[in-house]
Amino acid sequence: MTCRIAVLASGRGSNLQALIQAQQSGLLGACIVGVFSDRPACAALAIAREHGIPVIAQSPSDFSSREDFDESMFNEIEAVQPDLIVCAGYMRLISERAVGRFKDRMINIHPSLLPKYPGLNTHSRVLAAGDREHGASIHCVIPALDAGPVIAQAKLPVLADDSSESLASRILEREHPLLVQCVKAISDGIVELSHGAIRWHGKPLRSPLLLNDADQLEAAQ
Ligand code: GRF
Repeated sequence: MTCRIAVLASGRGSNLQALIQAQQSGLLGACIVGVFSDRPACAALAIAREHGIPVIAQSPSDFSSREDFDESMFNEIEAVQPDLIVCAGYMRLISERAVGRFKDRMINIHPSLLPKYPGLNTHSRVLAAGDREHGASIHCVIPALDAGPVIAQAKLPVLADDSSESLASRILEREHPLLVQCVKAISDGIVELSHGAIRWHGKPLRSPLLLNDADQLEAAQ
């Protein structure tokens, strides 16, 4: 059965675009059934519309609390009956109740090697700390920000002349295949999320999968 994917996005939408391309090329045997946003004017929604994907946008300022906003937004998401919800640059904390409604069905992409650097400005924080390695992570969503078990990561060396802009663009290039491969692995049943734990080929995953140079996920050594 085709995996039904709902995407949550607030901004530029390059990760959404990567998922759409993977669906169109046949790499991803899944179907993006809706794109949902808290920013009605964001580029991600325009990308979805261009591809004929249904969109729903709601402004947080029209709601009296985070819980009310999430209740309404996640009712809309539930209506498209997603098997998987992908947060791809969704810039809002999701309330505990909404996360609970979609337990084991919601993932997020974050531009750092979690658990390092949850939150914003990850690239400049990596540079300030003098780290020699940086990357991106896909993790299961739990109520705490950028926490939750990590499914897969893409790693990159930090170069001597890197700025936060150069790091951001090199990481973003790796985010796209990382997200596509992770969504593919989940929709193909190779990665299973259950009761807050991750299984890979039927076995418990002890440490995050890694995206290799051939853009494939592999077990960490
Ligand atoms: C990405 O860096 C993602 O990791 C972070 O927000 C950014 C979204 O980029 N959560 P885009 O909107 O997909 O281009």
